[in-house]
Amino acid sequence: MSKVTVIGAGNVGATVANVLAHKDIVNEVVLVDIVGDLARGKALDTWQQAPIDNYSTRLIGTSDYKDTKNSDIIVITAGIPRKPGMSRDDLISTNANIVTSVVKSVLEHSKNPIIIVVSNPLDVMTYAAFKAAGLKSTRVFGMAGILDTARYRAFLASELNVSPKDIQAILMGGHGDTMVPLPRYTTVSGIPVTELVKPKVLDAIVERTKAGGGELVKLMGTSAWYAPGAAAAQMVESIVKNENRIYPVCAQLNGQYGLKDIFVGVPVKLGKNGIEKIIELKLNKAETKLLHESAAAVKEVMEVFDKM
Ligand code: NAI
Ligand code: 2OP
Repeated sequence: MSKVTVIGAGNVGATVANVLAHKDIVNEVVLVDIVGDLARGKALDTWQQAPIDNYSTRLIGTSDYKDTKNSDIIVITAGIPRKPGMSRDDLISTNANIVTSVVKSVLEHSKNPIIIVVSNPLDVMTYAAFKAAGLKSTRVFGMAGILDTARYRAFLASELNVSPKDIQAILMGGHGDTMVPLPRYTTVSGIPVTELVKPKVLDAIVERTKAGGGELVKLMGTSAWYAPGAAAAQMVESIVKNENRIYPVCAQLNGQYGLKDIFVGVPVKLGKNGIEKIIELKLNKAETKLLHESAAAVKEVMEVFDKM
């Protein structure tokens, strides 16, 4: 059984810990926040939920990195979230400093963990974590694609009045307005979505997906946490159980899709070593163009980080 540390006990971090606890697949979840009592309180609250919901996962809340010793997986959610009117990129300098310092603190106590980044702007924070960690890029990657794909799948399920469980889809690119949902790789229990949804409606769903994070920021005054937390926990599950599930994940590309030295969302196989394989889909010309445009947008922000 494994030990998972979640850094940041805010909305997303606490949800990751809570969802993971319910899955009952790891021995211990350590929730860390600079606000130590917040982490302690949320860990205790989730532990007190265990007798009700029937799980054995131990939970510890702390502000002391010694408690994270020998973690197998680290999920980083520390940072500030978006407020109305802010783009994810507005968060860059604050969150880059936080992510870099968190990675250094974590590595003082865990030798070769797998690091899953959630903090925004996601693709660049994953790059920042990778640079700070000095680990193999197969062990440092980011969560965004599962969330963005889930939004796309949920919108399609509403449109078709079917269970979201029956929508299979893939989405690539950066975690921003340039993300690339792929209708050609979207099916409803194996039926191509293009046979079930009119092009205009499908286009509108794709556009709503791209703005999906912003829609929630407008509604709640801060960014989402239930689906993001569940998405990060699903990545942990695939790793811990060595399931080799295929998910869209922010990963470093080294020539795949004609892209190099960049962190961007692509389908990968997730197993006990982290990214076991990057899957290369056969994209058509239009899809490749969209992916490259998205990668260029991410690269711009990576360069801002490099100059900081
Ligand atoms: P939040 O404000 O509820 O929680 C953030 C927590 O981080 C706070 O409790 C804060 O005290 C803590 N923190 C700040 N600096 C820290 C440090 N140095 N060490 C430890 N803890 C520290 O924010 P929320 O909603 O949980 O979002 C967290 C991050 O996740 C944001 O950057 C947000 O934009 C991002 N996010 C990313 C998503 C994705 O798809 N990748 C989806 C949703 C949110
Ligand atoms: C989201 O997509 C803001 O990244 C956050 O909900």
